[in-house]
Amino acid sequence: MHNDHLASLSTQPAKDKGQAFCPSNIALCKYWGKRDEALNLPTNSSLSISLGKLGTHAHINESKNDRLLINGKNYLADKKEYQRVFAWIDRIVGKHRPKLTIDTMSNIPTGAGVASSASAFSAILSALNDFFAWHINIEQLAHFARLGSGSAARSLLKGFVYAKAGNRADGTDFSIRALPQQWSEFNMAIVYVDRSNKHTSSKEGMQLTTQTSPIFKGWSEFAEQSCGQMIQAITEKNFTAVGRIAERNALTMHGTMMGCNPPLIYLLPQSLAILQQVKVLRSQGIEVYATLDAGPNVKLIFLEKSRQHIKDNFTHAEIIAPFELTD
Ligand code: PMV
Repeated sequence: MHNDHLASLSTQPAKDKGQAFCPSNIALCKYWGKRDEALNLPTNSSLSISLGKLGTHAHINESKNDRLLINGKNYLADKKEYQRVFAWIDRIVGKHRPKLTIDTMSNIPTGAGVASSASAFSAILSALNDFFAWHINIEQLAHFARLGSGSAARSLLKGFVYAKAGNRADGTDFSIRALPQQWSEFNMAIVYVDRSNKHTSSKEGMQLTTQTSPIFKGWSEFAEQSCGQMIQAITEKNFTAVGRIAERNALTMHGTMMGCNPPLIYLLPQSLAILQQVKVLRSQGIEVYATLDAGPNVKLIFLEKSRQHIKDNFTHAEIIAPFELTD
C-alpha cells in the first residue's frame, strides 16, 4: 500500500501553481529514536500541538531547473537543504517529473529547535498534492511527510495531534489523528536561549541515542506510556496533568540523550535557569510547565489566565495561542 513514489498518480501539473500552509508543531510527548532509518519510522508514538498561524507557506510551480527558496533565499544544488528536499521529492514523485521551483516562507526561525522543518515538509507535500491534484488521503500524506522529517506528519493536522508509531516493518500501521478537543485557553511561549542552528541534527542525535544510551529502551517504553496518559489528560482538560506529563517527558528525553557516549547535551545553562524559574513560579501559584526539543530553547505551557505573569517574567518570550484563528 505504501509505495515510495506515486507511480499510479499524475506527474503532470494540474494548474499553474500549487500552494499550501501547514502549521509548525511542538511535541508535548516527544519522538526520539528511529526503528527504521530508511522508512524514517519512529520507535515511539508522540503527541503534539500544532501552532495555529505559525508555520510555513509553500508555493510550487514548474520551472526550467529545480530551485529551492527558503524565506526568499535561493539554496543552490550544493546545499544540504536543497539535496534533502529534492531527494525526498524524487522519492515520492519519481525522477520523471517536471522541474520545480519550491518556494517556502516560514514565520518561525529555522533550525532553532522549533520544528520549522516539520511545517516545511508538510507544506511542500500539501502544495505538491495541490499542484498535481493527487487528492491522496491523510494516511498516505502522513507516510510521505514522515519520509521527509519524522515530526512533519503531525503538521498536516491542527490542534492536538497523536502520531502512532506502529510496529509493522513496512510502516503501514504508522498513523496520525487529531484529537477532537479544542482548548482555547491553552497557550505556549517560546523562550529563546540561542537562535543558531543545533550542533547535532536530530537524525544524528537519534542514532547516537539508540546506539549508545543505556536507558534508551526505558525511554521508548516510558514515552509510549506518556502518550496514553497525555491523551487522557487532554480529554479531561486536566491542565495540571498535561503540564506534568509534558515536562517529565521532555526531561526524560534529555536525560536519555545525556547518557549517550559521547554525551549529547542540547541544554545550555540558561535553559536550566529557565526550568528553575518555572519551578519557582509554580511554587508561587502560577501554573506553568516547560518542554524542550533538540535544542536549548524552552517552550512554556500555560493557560490564558497566566498570560500576563508569563509576559512579566519572560519579557522576550514569543507567546503562541495554538487555537487562535484556526477553524
Ligand atoms: O522530525 P525530527 O526528525 O526533526 O525530530 C523531532 C524530534 C523532537 O523535536 C526532539 C521531538 C518531536 O517529537 O518533535
